Amino acid sequence: MSFERPRRLRRSDALRAMVREHRVNIDGLVQPLFIDETLETRSPISSMPGIERLSIAESIEEAAALRQLGIRGILLFGLPATKDAVASSAYDENGVVQQAVRGIKARCPDMLVIADLCSCEYTDHGHCGILDAHGDVDNDPTLALLAKTALSYARAGVDIIAPSDMMDGRVAYLRHALDAESFTNIAIMSYAVKYASAFYGPFREAAQSAPSFGDRRTYQMDASNVREALREARIDAEEGADILIVKPAMAYLDVVRAVREQSELPVAVYNVSGEYAMVKAAAAAGWIDEERIVDELFASFARAGASIIISYFAKSYITRYHND
Ligand code: PBG
Repeated sequence: MSFERPRRLRRSDALRAMVREHRVNIDGLVQPLFIDETLETRSPISSMPGIERLSIAESIEEAAALRQLGIRGILLFGLPATKDAVASSAYDENGVVQQAVRGIKARCPDMLVIADLCSCEYTDHGHCGILDAHGDVDNDPTLALLAKTALSYARAGVDIIAPSDMMDGRVAYLRHALDAESFTNIAIMSYAVKYASAFYGPFREAAQSAPSFGDRRTYQMDASNVREALREARIDAEEGADILIVKPAMAYLDVVRAVREQSELPVAVYNVSGEYAMVKAAAAAGWIDEERIVDELFASFARAGASIIISYFAKSYITRYHND
C-alpha cells in the first residue's frame, strides 16, 4: 500500500552538513583571559575547572597559542596588585591590562585584543564605578574614569574596547574621548544588554570582584525584561557602538534574537562563567557529554542570531572544529 504524506529527510553526515541552516562563525569566537599582576605563572580557578588566572608573561604565551589554533579574538580582564576607592590601578600606564596588551600585540599583531572596561576589578569596594555619599555609583565621575582607562588601553594598542559598567552615556562619552585622541579606528563592543545575573558567580571568584556590600541590581537589568533590552541596544547603537553584547547567553536567547532583529549591528553573546561552571560540573559527574553539550549550545547561539560568541569554551571548541 502506498499513500501520500510529507517525507522527512534521512540524513547522512554529509547531507546533514549540506542542509545545515546555521553555522558557528569560527572567526567570531572570543576567549576571555584573566590576567593577574601578582602571579608568576598560572593559578587555577576552583569554580571554573580548566580556566586559570595567568601572569602577564603567561597571557602572552596563551594568546600566541590561541592564535595558532585559529582564535581571532581575546577578551582581557585584569586583576591588579592594588585596589582603591577610585580605581587608580585601572588607568595606570603600567597597569596589568596595559602591560599585557603591549606584550600580546608585539607577539601576535593580528590577534584582536578586546579590553573589558569596568572599574569593579580595580575598586576596593568592588562596585563598577566611583561611589557618591550614599554609596551609590556616581554616573558622570565614573564616565571620566572609564574614558581615562580606555585611553590608556588605546595607547597600549587594544583593537576593541568593551565597556561593561552600564553607566548612562558611556558609549557616546568613550567614542568622543577616543576620537579626540585620534583613536578613531578602535571599535566599541558594548555590553548593551547586561542582566543582573546569578550566572556571574564564578567570575567574581575569578576576578575577585564581588561587591563588598550591596549588589549590582540598580545598574544591571532585570531578568524579566526584554523591551528594556531593545531600548538599551538602540541607545548604544545611536551612541556609536560597533558591536552589541547580550549577556548571559543560555537563559537569554530570546533576547539575542530580538536584538538581532532590531539592530543592524553585529550581535555578540557572552556565554558566562556560571554557564561554563554548570556544564563542567555536570560533565565531571558523568551526567552529560561536555563536547556534545557545547556544540549544541554554540549552535543555539548561532541560531538565535549571534555572529560573535564570547565563551570560556572557545578554545576547546576551535580545537575540535577548526579544520572541519
Ligand atoms: C564586569 C563583568 C562581569 C562579567 C564580565 N564583566 C561581572 C559582573 O558584571 O558582575 C561576568 C562574566 C562572566 O560571568 O563570565 N567587569
